Amino acid sequence: MEKKPIKRDKNIQPLSRDHHHTLLLCWKIRKGFSKGVAPNRMKTYSDWFFESHVLPHFKIEEKYLFPVLGEDHDMIKRALAEHRRLERLFKDEKDIVRSLSLIEEELELHVRYEERELFNEIQKQARPEQLEVILEVHKDERFQENTSDEFWK
Ligand SMILES: [Fe+2]
Ligand SMILES: [Fe+2]
Repeated sequence: MEKKPIKRDKNIQPLSRDHHHTLLLCWKIRKGFSKGVAPNRMKTYSDWFFESHVLPHFKIEEKYLFPVLGEDHDMIKRALAEHRRLERLFKDEKDIVRSLSLIEEELELHVRYEERELFNEIQKQARPEQLEVILEVHKDERFQENTSDEFWK
């Protein structure tokens, strides 16, 4: 059964905005596949997205958000395992068609898991100062798109 999203704590909202752009990455990859775009063009974009958006996002979650529940918590174990798996998929150079299609699928599931389950639990358990730090560490500059090859258009 799917849980309805509850109102996101304002301190975590920058991370939820990242999630929005992450879901767009998944959409762009899907679109690229359906248009028959050369995989290496999508790989170039996804490499850029990984370095400039996914990695910094993972780091903030792991350093400031996940400790609210602790690494022994089952929900955190799952999130950390998904981060490691997604990092491997982004870094894969051997079979990029396979890794891009797995990123498209699994990254979306990861974001939905965080938005629908994990972030709600963290909001419930956190002391206010544990979430306030997110606003301080998240550089909330507006999303800068990489327009050098917009293969999804
Ligand atoms: Fe995550
Ligand atoms: Fe996330």
